Amino acid sequence: MIDCHCHLLPGIDDGPETLEESIGMARALRQLGFTEIYCTPHSIPGMYETSPQDVLEGVARLQRALTEAGITLRLRPGMEYYLDTFFPSRLVNPQPLGSSRLLLVEAPSWADAELVRRNVLQIVQAGLVPLIAHPERCHLLRVDVPRAGVLGELGRMLTGRGGARGAGAVRFSPFVAELQGMGCLFQGNIGSFAGRYGRQASQRAAGFLAGGGYSCLGSDSHPFYNLDEMLGEGLKKLESLDGGHDQLYRPAVLAD
Ligand SMILES: [Fe+2]
Repeated sequence: MIDCHCHLLPGIDDGPETLEESIGMARALRQLGFTEIYCTPHSIPGMYETSPQDVLEGVARLQRALTEAGITLRLRPGMEYYLDTFFPSRLVNPQPLGSSRLLLVEAPSWADAELVRRNVLQIVQAGLVPLIAHPERCHLLRVDVPRAGVLGELGRMLTGRGGARGAGAVRFSPFVAELQGMGCLFQGNIGSFAGRYGRQASQRAAGFLAGGGYSCLGSDSHPFYNLDEMLGEGLKKLESLDGGHDQLYRPAVLAD
């Protein structure tokens, strides 16, 4: 099982502060079933000025420590870029996910569609593939899921929308569809399925999954979460939903 989004490197962002803390998180992730982890610290100008060199060195150091501790996890470099107005300068020397062309990016909560669109275009023009982190947490990236039961049926009759039930009835907002058309892929947070980020994010995550909107999943682990609880519940919930999880846990887009 591959984790495409994880704040596991020590002393680099709001992830663990010490190597020991990183090792503890890695042990928990291994026990949950992960075998490969992309270490994706934040890159936010003025807050986390992380360079690809920092990430590569951090990954090598932590990988050695995990081997010594007997934890069989393969670490890979990555970064989580913030799509703000300063973002284009980061494309001079970007750090994609491992040897892929995927660039993990997050839309700031305050960003408007135009800013996201402009940045995405720059990524595509640089020959990279934008992988949007946890779209279910972003207000710009809506997905409509028909409500089940009598209320949903009534709503469908009154509005004439979402006539069919099931996966075919999921509708991505025009902006999500536009980003998909530009070549964007989407990464879901496992904790979203457990309601860790609220009901709306949980409903949107189920919608993205049902509509085939995700290309991969990530833990988005930070030390301030109870990983056993958050990810254990999220993985269990994912088991109960349709959506082709195997491809998401071992995504083709990251194949060597
Ligand atoms: Fe993150």
